[in-house]
Amino acid sequence: MLIAIILPTYVCPLACKYCYNEGERQGVMPHETMRKVVAEIHSYACAHPELGGVKYLWHGGEPMVAGVGFFEEVVALQKQLAWKVPYTNGMQSNGVLMDDTWLEFLKRESFRVTFSLDGTRELNDLTRVDHKGRGSFDRIVEAYRRTRAADMETGVVLTITRHTAPHAESIYRWFATEGIPFSLLPLLNAGNTRDNLDELSLLPSDYLKAWTMMYDIWLEANPYVYVTNFVHETRAVLAGRPYMCTGLANCADSTFAVEPDGSVYPCGSLTANPELRYGSLMENTLQEVMTSNVALGLRNRTHASDCLECKWFHTCHGGCMSRAHKYKGTVHVKDYFCDALFGIYDHIERRMAERGMKAPEPHSTHLDKNLGYSGIQSMTTVPGNGRRIIPISALL
Ligand SMILES: C[S@@+](CC[C@H](N)C(=O)[O-])C[C@H]1O[C@@H](n2cnc3c(N)ncnc32)[C@H](O)[C@@H]1O
Ligand code: SF4
Ligand code: SF4
Repeated sequence: MLIAIILPTYVCPLACKYCYNEGERQGVMPHETMRKVVAEIHSYACAHPELGGVKYLWHGGEPMVAGVGFFEEVVALQKQLAWKVPYTNGMQSNGVLMDDTWLEFLKRESFRVTFSLDGTRELNDLTRVDHKGRGSFDRIVEAYRRTRAADMETGVVLTITRHTAPHAESIYRWFATEGIPFSLLPLLNAGNTRDNLDELSLLPSDYLKAWTMMYDIWLEANPYVYVTNFVHETRAVLAGRPYMCTGLANCADSTFAVEPDGSVYPCGSLTANPELRYGSLMENTLQEVMTSNVALGLRNRTHASDCLECKWFHTCHGGCMSRAHKYKGTVHVKDYFCDALFGIYDHIERRMAERGMKAPEPHSTHLDKNLGYSGIQSMTTVPGNGRRIIPISALL
């Protein structure tokens, strides 16, 4: 899949203490730019049928700031071009602007919406605050519940910081009891985080501890809820190849992000860095942008020598280039969370061995350029809070 992350604006009603965005928080993508961006994405996907279609992921800033009218125009244009390539729409939102009009639109147009929520009220509201310093928990949870009540596929993204890591167990239990599927992101050192680093910084060892603590409860399915990272990383160990974008050797072959002015970057968390700007869709085609010198440099990211000799190279490939860049200033080094990644793969291998499953040799395609990103998979909502046994077949 071609993962097109589009930031229609950097404007946001929240001012999270860790927000990595460094772009200027004003303005919304002009409609003319949006039309050019969508048309370019469709013709690129059409010229690259091996990608199998487009996953639009509307990001920001807060994507809902662009307004329902903006998105009505997006979907009308997508439908005009639909004969060319299959596509889906996802939105990553803080939920605070959710209302009846948005809900009706998102449901009607089959958007998959995920919200950001960092656990219980006390934990979430330490960092996810609005411009007046007020917590956002109640507004996010209400948006999530309304989306779920509308029978839409949804879930949340949980950012792990120094605040949340020690509470991993209670956060997991709370999400599972509420039946809220989630995915995990460790803190990136960028944007507002730089001003609050002493308060928020997350050591790889603390991330590993939080991750494995939640994983063990999840694996025993008591209580159970779908966790994207746990499913995908278990799959990676059992299949001998990556399943998360962070483990792909060439994530930048199938993922890119577009800023409100049409500038293109490798990822939604790597925008507003002039040295990582591929070019602009207002000046060039996406094909030209994706083959600019900057783009090719990132698409052929080099691997650190210790990665090449690492036992988990085939599932990890040096980890996330954004986490390398944010902590070390370049994408051509390994992930800042390397020690955690190694520990996570070893931990899964041990847990699988206890269940009689041996991690195989690296899969022959693990370095394939067109391996692609399986995308953020369906976060199937599991009704009820009962104990569930996870069928291992569901992980393969
Ligand atoms: C930048 S926000 C944009 C979309 C929307 N405003 C939201 O909050 O969901 C996308 C995701 O990045 C996460 N995020 C923001 N800053 C981060 C950081 N420094 N490290 C890790 N994740 C971060 C947010 O919690 C959110 O889940
Ligand atoms: S993380 Fe999302 S909600 Fe929070 S300030 Fe950044 S863009 Fe806004
Ligand atoms: S675990 Fe560390 S050393 Fe091994 S491939 Fe990943 S980043 Fe490189």
